[in-house]
Amino acid sequence: MARASRNLKRLIEALAPFWAAEARVVRAYFKSPKRSRQSDLLWLSRQCRKEFWDGFDVANPGLFIGPLRKMLNLAEKIDQGVDRHEILDMTEGLHAEFAHYCAFADAYDAIRGKGDPPINPMMLRDVKSWPENEALGELRAGHMRAHGDIGIRASRLTEGGYCALFSEGAKLKGASVADRVVARACRSVYDDEFSHMLKGIAGLDREDLSQADWTLLKDLAVEQMRARLHMRNAQFGNPLPDAEIELLKQGKSKPIAFNYAKAGFAA
Ligand SMILES: [Fe+2]
Ligand SMILES: [Fe+2]
Repeated sequence: MARASRNLKRLIEALAPFWAAEARVVRAYFKSPKRSRQSDLLWLSRQCRKEFWDGFDVANPGLFIGPLRKMLNLAEKIDQGVDRHEILDMTEGLHAEFAHYCAFADAYDAIRGKGDPPINPMMLRDVKSWPENEALGELRAGHMRAHGDIGIRASRLTEGGYCALFSEGAKLKGASVADRVVARACRSVYDDEFSHMLKGIAGLDREDLSQADWTLLKDLAVEQMRARLHMRNAQFGNPLPDAEIELLKQGKSKPIAFNYAKAGFAA
């Protein structure tokens, strides 16, 4: 097992306070007296939308249809120019993200009342996004346009924000049905999303990045993490006031300890 390089450690140190900040946003929501069935339905439907319709590739509509289309286009080239393992990776990603959609949609359906509409991907497409989520998507797309591969790496790196939502949701132990179904959904998603984030980290040390690349990667990822704080806070109906978000954006929160062992690095 290799040790993480100094550059990689520096990158992780820069991101860790923002991971903690995102966890704080989610915790504030779960503890908030304003939390209600309606607010749970809203954030769950927004999360479902992210799992189904968001994606890194602007040309491809979402984490479900995007990879499906791509695979259809590549089908005839498998092992004739396209590595079968690349396709296998895509089918795994497709399965994981659709499983996440299902997990949060199941939670939504378990707590909705008679008057609340059942969930489906089409109703989520146009109505359940929110400006701060669009802004994050545009920021990532802009980073990819301007910086190519480093922009893609930054987006992978900030995916899920160290799983703050999923790890905080998984801790819910309340007696309510809502707490139980949210905790179940979050637990089922946590491992996948953690490994997606690790994918963003794994291999960076073998990429032969220049010092300038490392610095750019760190700057882009930090900018995306700041946008994620607005995205999450708005997703949950602003449990933290703007002034507190601005403070958290300075990156001075007590950092989350990165699990190097789980990421496959020697201590
Ligand atoms: Fe996901
Ligand atoms: Fe993911």
